[in-house]
Amino acid sequence: MIPLSLARIAQVTGGQLAHGDPEAIVSGEVVIDSRRAAPGGLFAAVAGERSDGHDFAAAAVAAGAVAVLATRPVPVPSVLVADVPAALAALARSVVDALPRARIAGITGSSGKTSTKDLAAQLVERLGPTIAPAGSFNNEFGHPLTVLRADASTRYLVLELSARGLGHIAYLCRVAPPRYGVVLNVGHAHAGEFGGLDQVARAKGELPEALPADGVAILNADDPRVLAMADRTAARVVTFSCAPEPARGAAVRAADIRLDDLGRPGFTLLTPEGSAPVTLRLHGAHNVPNALAAAALARELGLDLDGIADGLRAATARSRWRMEVHQRGDGVTVINDAYNANPESVRAALDALAHLTQGGAGHGGRAFAVLGHMAELGDTTRASHEDAGEYAARLGGPGLAGLIAVGEEAAPLLDGARRVPAWTGEALAVPDGATALEELANRLKPSDVVLVKASRAAHLEGVAAALLGEAGQ
Ligand SMILES: Nc1ncnc2c1ncn2[C@@H]1O[C@H](COP(=O)(O)OP(=O)(O)O)[C@@H](O)[C@H]1O
Ligand SMILES: [Mg+2]
Repeated sequence: MIPLSLARIAQVTGGQLAHGDPEAIVSGEVVIDSRRAAPGGLFAAVAGERSDGHDFAAAAVAAGAVAVLATRPVPVPSVLVADVPAALAALARSVVDALPRARIAGITGSSGKTSTKDLAAQLVERLGPTIAPAGSFNNEFGHPLTVLRADASTRYLVLELSARGLGHIAYLCRVAPPRYGVVLNVGHAHAGEFGGLDQVARAKGELPEALPADGVAILNADDPRVLAMADRTAARVVTFSCAPEPARGAAVRAADIRLDDLGRPGFTLLTPEGSAPVTLRLHGAHNVPNALAAAALARELGLDLDGIADGLRAATARSRWRMEVHQRGDGVTVINDAYNANPESVRAALDALAHLTQGGAGHGGRAFAVLGHMAELGDTTRASHEDAGEYAARLGGPGLAGLIAVGEEAAPLLDGARRVPAWTGEALAVPDGATALEELANRLKPSDVVLVKASRAAHLEGVAAALLGEAGQ
């Protein structure tokens, strides 16, 4: 981060300096995990559900942190503030204001923010020093902490913006005002908290609304709720599309989309400057729109077609448990998509499962889906699980051999699957991941493919790890 004295930090955050030298300089990372506190950094103490960061203030300073940002007195150098997220936001904004040459891009949408952010960062890094968060640092804590990593050398910030309600994205856009804004899709993630898809669209549209007239709104032409955001921005609108004939045309497109043996998409990237063949190292057709969004952003920032195509071909998955495809020694393929789940991403993952058993690496094998519940869907929870189960039972190719619903909340998946009379697969309800593993062990044969997916809270990544013989994580 750009070096700031404790006196300056107190001034920017409206806080009170306690036990500290006002001239002491913070130049290292700002962290909220005391175990990550390092020399020269600042530790922000946050009271969580399980522990209170204030209890680790002394440990953070012992590990080298210059001071602690806190809401109650601690026995070490500190800046006392009324609200830690607000203080982080004020600090982040002061850093942004001090770096007028850094160009800021925000990425939002219901599904694919992290995947797209990771792809975009790997393209934009070709243009110059780039700050992008690790994983999903996308809320009122992670977003400012990411911005605070910027310094005088930073040329680009590629940020992930999440929302659980109206006003959240507008808030993040005030912390670090983006000139470039990407909206991927409007789907059911957190739709329960929002109160329906129209509310989700209102919330995601706060990103294009926040863009200035000399900014660029990068919108998915294949999602009508996203395309409609063109009317909500002062910025120039650029669209991307996977459709053969996109609505209102699109600057960045994909043609001839196909999947290889492991479900990795290949396509022809079409741009106004020309076309280029691209094969992604990521799995699943849903990564094509993500790649187009990243390409459109990089193109606006000045990366040429060769750079974009090379960058997409070289880009790897930087964040774990999103459509990781692994093959076991015995020929069983495991798709670990256990990071999270919502109706759209479950369908995307099931499509990939179908592809693998149909013509891909698991050709001739059978498809098993181990699905946990999808959280935060509100009133639509039951219907969404039934619909996902029905979708699973209607899978193409050889169809689904087994659907294993993990946990009570996932059980309606099986009711949905039973709505498909033609489905002859096995429907199993199990209480936990360990039982799912036992049931699979009795069934799996070489060439079979297993998808493991659920919301974060279900922690099914342990099931995928156990299937692969890895230690639990
Ligand atoms: N464009 C997309 N459409 C549907 N599902 C997607 C898309 N991109 C990613 N996914 C799936 O959604 C889940 C979350 O992906 P991630 O990139 O972490 O998105 P987010 O950051 O928005 O939660 C993963 O299961 C991933 O495979
Ligand atoms: Mg994310």
